This record gives sequence, C-alpha cells and structure tokens, in this order.
Amino acid sequence: MDLGLKGKVALVTGAGSQIGFGKQIALLLAKEGCDAVAVTDIIDDVNLTAEDVKKTGKKSLAVKGDITNKENVQSLVKQVVEAFGKIDILCNVAGGIANRVPFDQAKPEDWDKDFHLNLTSILLTTQAVLPYMQKQKSGAIVNIGSGSTRMYGHGVGNSYALSKAGVDTLTKQTAFNEAKNGIRCNCVAPGPAPTNFIPGPDKKGIIDMLAKTIPLGRGATQTDIANATLFFASEMSSYITGAILHVSGGSVLD
Ligand SMILES: NC(=O)c1ccc[n+]([C@@H]2O[C@H](COP(=O)([O-])OP(=O)(O)OC[C@H]3O[C@@H](n4cnc5c(N)ncnc54)[C@H](O)[C@@H]3O)[C@@H](O)[C@H]2O)c1
Repeated sequence: MDLGLKGKVALVTGAGSQIGFGKQIALLLAKEGCDAVAVTDIIDDVNLTAEDVKKTGKKSLAVKGDITNKENVQSLVKQVVEAFGKIDILCNVAGGIANRVPFDQAKPEDWDKDFHLNLTSILLTTQAVLPYMQKQKSGAIVNIGSGSTRMYGHGVGNSYALSKAGVDTLTKQTAFNEAKNGIRCNCVAPGPAPTNFIPGPDKKGIIDMLAKTIPLGRGATQTDIANATLFFASEMSSYITGAILHVSGGSVLD
C-alpha cells in the first residue's frame, strides 16, 4: 500500500531511548517510505537511532539537544532543513513525568517542570516548523499525548496528566488554525508501555500488573504506538485533523 510518504522528510523528537516510542516511530516512517528521518533527543543514544534509520537505506540526522529550550529547537529545525531541504512530518514524542510530587504537596514550580517538558516543548517545535509547512502548504504533525488525561487511578502524577491534557487542546487548536494551510495535526494517546517512561528495572512486571485492568488484557507495545503515529503522519489520514486517538487496549473509551 502506498502511504504517500515517498519523498517526505520527518523529524521525530524523543527518539534517543532505545526502547521508547520515538525510535520505533522513526524506524517505521523510514521503512514505510520517508526519504529522510531526522531524530533528536537530550541523550547521546540518539546517534544510535540515526544509525539504525540509515540501515533501512534512508537518510537520517541526529541532533542532540534539550527540546524545552527555544534556541535549541530553532537550531534543530534549521539543521534539519539545511540537511534535507524541508520538513513534512513532525512527531512530538519527547516527554515524560518530570515531577512526581504528590498533588496536595506540589508547588507551582513543581508543576512547571511537567508543563515545560510535555507542553511547552511541543509549542516550541510546532512554532519552529510551521513556517516551512505553511510555505509549502502541507504538513502533518503528530503529538504524543497520554491516556492519563482520562485515567485517574494509575498514579501517573497530576501535573503530568494536566500537561498532556494541554497537548490535546494544543493539538485541536493547531489543527483548526492550520487547516487552511494544508497542515494537519493529530494526537496519539498511549496507554502504559514498557519504555523508559516506566521507572525501575522491572518494566514488564509493572505493565503486566497494569494489564489486569486493561480490557484487551495487555499493555501497549512500541509498535502499537508507532502504527497509530504512522497513520496520522501518512496520507491514510488525509481527511482527519484535530483527532485524539487513544491507543490503550480499551482503557480509555472516548
Ligand atoms: N510509555 C508509557 O507508558 C507512556 C504512556 C503514555 C504516554 N507516554 C508518552 O510517550 C512519549 C514517549 O515516551 P516513552 O514511553 O517512549 O519513554 P522514553 O523515556 O523511553 O522516551 C522518552 C524520550 O524523551 C527524551 N527526553 C526527555 N526529556 C527531554 C528533553 N528535555 N529534550 C529532549 N528529549 C527529551 C528522553 O531522553 C527519552 O529518550 C512521552 O511523551 C510520554 O509522556 C508514554
């Protein structure tokens, strides 16, 4: 099936984790047709991801940097455009629980950490990429949200869930504003998966425990999330914008 990805250039944030969603998304975009997939992360392992993308026969570029820093993000986007000429697809994957302070003890500055990592970062990348997409009158942005916006019992942290609720709204606002420019924006909201998002060594054990409450009886895999992201990045979803797709085994029925 032609997904309409031939000749496209993608940028995936948070792609350094070797067991994370970002790497799987980058590899799938390359395998399914993108010409070049640039990857970024705050950790050195982003170079390993770029090497693996190149092994698929496609071009890649690794840029190390902090996604919450405006200058870094501007420089990142400039480097990608200099290397590949344009950006057609932006996948905002970087994120996590920046702060596990309990709700009733959290200070405003504690909340700021989650909002910067999960929400401001997406504002920064989107603002940096939009001028290029607006000029070419096309583009697809996929934000990674979270099922935590609809689940209150998993102890994932309140400011984390609130920052991800902001991602939902930012997705819809971007979709509305940019539809006239041929730019779509959608959100994939994962359920729990055994990435570095899950603390400690026994990630599978934690996910297996959580799976008891998941209607489909298992946690999410990196491939589940990459498949949904591919759908929104590709022409398969050309008439969909502003959607929040929960990929959570039925945990969130929205
Ligand atoms: N795994 C889950 O259970 C789960 C569930 C719902 C949502 N999510 C979301 O999925 C996304 C991907 O997380 P993951 O599960 O692959 O976890 P992960 O920890 O394996 O990957 C997240 C990546 O983001 C990078 N990152 C963190 N801070 C950064 C910064 N300031 N600048 C640049 N990069 C930074 C990390 O280095 C890491 O490589 C996150 O937005 C997370 O909130 C994960």
